[in-house]
Amino acid sequence: MGKEEKDIKEKIREKLRGGATSEEKEPPEKAPEKGTETETTEEKIQEEEEEKPQYEERQQIMRSQLALLASYSFKNEGLPVEVKIVRKKDFVPRYEVTIPGIAEGTKLILQTKLKGELVSEVKLDISEILDPKKFEEVKSKFLAAAHKILERNFPSLPEDKREILAVYLLQNTLGLGEMESLLADEQLEEVVVNNSREPLWVYHKKFGWCKTNVRIKDEETIYDYSSMIARKIGRQINVLNPMLDAHLPSGDRVNSTLAPISSFGNTITIRKFSKNPWTITNFIRSRTVSSEVAALIWLCIQNELSLLVTGGTGSGKTSFLNAMAGLIPSNQRIVSIEDTRELTLPSFLHWVPLVVREANPEGKGEVTMLDLLVNALRMRPDRILVGEIRRQREAEVMFEAMHTGHSVYATLHADNSEQTISRLTNPPINIPPAMLDALAGIVVTFRHRRFNIRRVLEFSEIDKEKANVLYKWDVKTDKIKGTGRLGRLGELLSLYAGMDEREIEEDIEEKIEILNWMVKNGYDDVDQVGEIVSNYYLDPDTVLEAVSAKKPWEFKRF
Ligand SMILES: Nc1ncnc2c1ncn2[C@@H]1O[C@H](COP(=O)(O)OP(=O)(O)O)[C@@H](O)[C@H]1O
Ligand SMILES: [Mg+2]
Repeated sequence: MGKEEKDIKEKIREKLRGGATSEEKEPPEKAPEKGTETETTEEKIQEEEEEKPQYEERQQIMRSQLALLASYSFKNEGLPVEVKIVRKKDFVPRYEVTIPGIAEGTKLILQTKLKGELVSEVKLDISEILDPKKFEEVKSKFLAAAHKILERNFPSLPEDKREILAVYLLQNTLGLGEMESLLADEQLEEVVVNNSREPLWVYHKKFGWCKTNVRIKDEETIYDYSSMIARKIGRQINVLNPMLDAHLPSGDRVNSTLAPISSFGNTITIRKFSKNPWTITNFIRSRTVSSEVAALIWLCIQNELSLLVTGGTGSGKTSFLNAMAGLIPSNQRIVSIEDTRELTLPSFLHWVPLVVREANPEGKGEVTMLDLLVNALRMRPDRILVGEIRRQREAEVMFEAMHTGHSVYATLHADNSEQTISRLTNPPINIPPAMLDALAGIVVTFRHRRFNIRRVLEFSEIDKEKANVLYKWDVKTDKIKGTGRLGRLGELLSLYAGMDEREIEEDIEEKIEILNWMVKNGYDDVDQVGEIVSNYYLDPDTVLEAVSAKKPWEFKRF
């Protein structure tokens, strides 16, 4: 990144910071510089901030006259990939991807002549190609053959170059060609093909929609890619089934349509699965939630109270559920149920993720959320996570599960706490209001569209069939403010944890300290947060010692 651009960003940041009044506790600042360890933390924070820029900052970057907005590189299966994001005379930035070391001419030879040789040389019977389980085998057969073909065609090519060309050749034969580099870029959320005349578009975490320098050469190839994706998961896309909506084993979600259903041509929309899940530390740092509210939620989770996360579409419900799940003790069994695989928990938790399945073209084999929920209850779970509750039966089974002593965390579409109660208790969901008492609290997430920020709008307890708002976000100061005393939640906590009011307060204070210390030290990773939380449950003193001595944590698992 250029110095000039950095300066601009710094200025904007300062401005944003200055805009907020500070009557409440600020999220902790970065740790002071000290040795290499803090340097890595600082880098992390820097990355973090760059990943999730504020709306105005992004607008400024867009408006600035800089031609080069960003450049970075990464490796994809050993293939070096370089990315430049540039501002040209267009409404959106241009995302330029190149693979250094492969000239355009070489690419052409690889994509035509050598690809042809490869396909005719590797003799596969149709069952091998169609069997998704054999994919790795097929891949290594192709790779070996690719090496031979390259040796024959470019005998003087050094080994490392040949390796690169072999991977490229493989990606163009068995994979999605040039799209593979885009799919490997962690900065992209979405990769889309609209037709073969226009370049591919991508949704960049920082710059939003960008046009790329990649184009798929004809409609036939887009169709081939779609059917390749479909085949891998045992599905089909063709004239009679011109739409495909699929979840890949990688967690990516793919949607394809064929012309003339999509008038401009064949389309592919790939939403990439985020490998970098949200944690409570991320949310405290980005001011999505205050450490006080986070600490209270943590106390609820520790004491097995059930919570709902509600909010509008795209407000961050699932992400918040993910962050909450990282606070579950590691000696408890978790079963999660989702439409799409979105949740990622610390790797050492006792966790069984379940995902629904759509019916096959003959209408058979469907497994619904309700099927999974009923099944989950037979798996002896301590905690149940439900991606999203939409229907009456799902809600009924969920509340039954709560009433039979399970702690459940689920998301539901509703704009605030009051609406959550009214959605739950009115048609079509229609839960008897008396059943609501199994629920301890509601976290409402909210997306401010103009500023493109996400915040916890409310945190409420359920008291006598009503939502009692305990914390509320104030738009003017961008702070979450306490609006009431713990009523029923306090009673529940005393009942389950045997704490009186003062002890609850002290426990929350303690958790605030731990959370702030984690934020300060940059412990954002899902496994880092998980390790500290698990240690805190087993041996709180060790964690508290590190916190009060402001010492970094010595991670055992990395
Ligand atoms: N607090 C946050 N700050 C910034 N981005 C967020 C935040 N929470 C979620 N996101 C992003 O917002 C998008 C929608 O989040 P998601 O949790 O799927 O929303 P929902 O489940 O409410 O539809 C995702 O791309 C996610 O990464
Ligand atoms: Mg969601």
